Amino acid sequence: MSDYKVHFDLNVLPAEDIFEPPAPLLAGAHVRGLPNYYELYKESINNPDRFWKTVASQLYFETDSDRGLEYNFDHRKGDVFIRFMSGARSNIAYNCLERNIAKGLGSKVALKWEGNEPADSSQVTYQELLDKVVAFSAVLRSKGVRKGDTVAIYLPMIIELPVAMLACARIGTIHTVVFAGFSSDSLATRILQAKAKVLVTADGCFRGNKPIHLKMLADQAVGICLNEGHRMDSVIVLEHLKRVTVPAKAKVPEVLINKDLDVFWDQAVDSVRGVESPVEWNEAEDPLFILYTSGSTGAPKGIVHTTIGYMVYTYLTTKLSFDAQPDDIYWCTADCGWITGHSYVTYGPLLNGMTVVIHEGVPTYPDPSRMWEMVEKYKVTKLYTAPTAVRALMAFSKDLVTKHDRSSLKIIGTVGEPINPSAWKWLYHVVGEDKCAVVDTYWQTETGGHVIVPLPGATPTKPGAATLPFLGVEPALVDHRGAALEGPGEGNLCMARAWPGMMRTVYGDHSRFVKTFFSSFPGYYFTGDGARRDDDSYYWITGRVDDLMNVSGHLLSTAEIESALVLHPDVVEAAVVAAPHDIKGQFPYAFVSLVNGKSLTDTLIAQLKATVREKIGALAMPDIIQEAPGLPKTRSGKITRRILRKIAEGDKGADLGDTTTLIDQSVIVQLWSTRPAVK
Ligand code: WT7
Repeated sequence: MSDYKVHFDLNVLPAEDIFEPPAPLLAGAHVRGLPNYYELYKESINNPDRFWKTVASQLYFETDSDRGLEYNFDHRKGDVFIRFMSGARSNIAYNCLERNIAKGLGSKVALKWEGNEPADSSQVTYQELLDKVVAFSAVLRSKGVRKGDTVAIYLPMIIELPVAMLACARIGTIHTVVFAGFSSDSLATRILQAKAKVLVTADGCFRGNKPIHLKMLADQAVGICLNEGHRMDSVIVLEHLKRVTVPAKAKVPEVLINKDLDVFWDQAVDSVRGVESPVEWNEAEDPLFILYTSGSTGAPKGIVHTTIGYMVYTYLTTKLSFDAQPDDIYWCTADCGWITGHSYVTYGPLLNGMTVVIHEGVPTYPDPSRMWEMVEKYKVTKLYTAPTAVRALMAFSKDLVTKHDRSSLKIIGTVGEPINPSAWKWLYHVVGEDKCAVVDTYWQTETGGHVIVPLPGATPTKPGAATLPFLGVEPALVDHRGAALEGPGEGNLCMARAWPGMMRTVYGDHSRFVKTFFSSFPGYYFTGDGARRDDDSYYWITGRVDDLMNVSGHLLSTAEIESALVLHPDVVEAAVVAAPHDIKGQFPYAFVSLVNGKSLTDTLIAQLKATVREKIGALAMPDIIQEAPGLPKTRSGKITRRILRKIAEGDKGADLGDTTTLIDQSVIVQLWSTRPAVK
């Protein structure tokens, strides 16, 4: 817990490295100037119920409630729980769609989709989106899906993905979106864990030049589920391939149809034409979705978010962090397979009546100017992306950026990992031409929405700092004994009180929820991150302090990768650590001990990488695998990862700390001498 990894030069910055909110933003911003923020913040902390009630009054409730936040973070005093507006009933899809249409936004564009190929695009208005959502919710109902059931969604980043999510929300069905880059095994695990009987998928898609055989992967996953005795009722298949341009160098994925289970999306929609599908008025704490995220002990955790707290929180954070305005063209580059695509592609922006751009492809295809080309094409005003994408694009000539008109841009947000000051400044100076606010948004799948974030019209920013808490959020830096630090310092980043949008439990495993998030520091929610607080009370996130690593803004569990590696019959034991990477931030570096007589050939390396891809997904494949005839262990048999991390980092001069507790110190010398050269 005290093993902080400071990735970047987080030293106190010179005075010129404080960036005031840009003047053009100040004029019409929802929160103007730091004193205004502090005033609101004080109110949110001193009178949370009054504060959140005022926010909630901007949304529609079928049944209101005078209850506010109720919670217990201290497991010694009873069960840990969080509730908000108990007794109220509402519907988040209704608030995104009908409520905005009633305000006159029916003909406003809700979603603009751009495909993998720049030539492919389409859009839907708020009214058209509602029609699609109602129709698809009728399809789900026709397949026997009811309130409280779970539907798994495995789709590329296309308009039907938010449609499927909103259709579930409309009828009180819990969605669990699985990123279309995940393997069939990962999909199967999630279907089984979430007990989903309906799967929504597509025939296939392209990511850059690469065909993605979605239907084949879905079939494999369904096969695994059926083998486990799980009941599947239907697989709804969207025919996406026939409407997209095939990349020059790609082959079209083959699609097999399973007559027992499969139904085509369009035919299913045709068959319910005219069928009514009314809104389900959900209770405040009815689950809205489950989203799986890596857990430090192996199996992914199903993070549960509920209806009203999540709605109110994503509404307000989107409104303030991105200063949502009626003429915004908002583009978040995240996929709906991650929490960012839930809170800040779908729910938050649509609750705010924004026009949202979604992109099916990758920022470097057909070439690394794609992102700026899209900013110009759609006249994007608010851009939300990830430091890893920024670092990848920074590596190319500035001309790729400057040849495109970016004068529409007002706010550039980042999320996923600490942003290194050089990437921050590149966004500020090169992309934003010193006229945009750059907002580094710190949050997690678990927090539901931003928890530490600058408000663009209020908070002076410092490159690399997530800055100040969002309204209603009370961070604490806690030392290893569980005592909160006062003033500047560094510690384990915790939250001292609940806010409406935080998770409620881990699906099917409430004791894991309590253990993971509330047992390290009783009375606090523990984020798993370390942070530093400076003289201005600004927070600087220093990275995970547990066994999770952050690869390209996505959390991976070292234990989960290790479990995949030891599935190979030649591997006796595996240890995975995070090593630094210029673009991805971190990458998985694996040490493997092999059975006697085996050696780590290129074939074996390829097989091991394939195993990890198959069990988890391509994202988790170790970039480097090193053979370890022995692993450094303490007398009690615990692998000393701290030492392996130093080897992976290639830091020969590093102080390895106390090595006297190791059984066999010679393994360290051996591992150093056989460390493969980093390419
Ligand atoms: C972890 C959460 C929240 C959506 C994307 C990731 C790291 C996230 C920041 C940031 C420093 C950040 C943390 C956090 N992280 N944003 N702005 N500065 N670190 O969601 O997969 O739940 O990961 O990502 O380590 O705990 P997630």
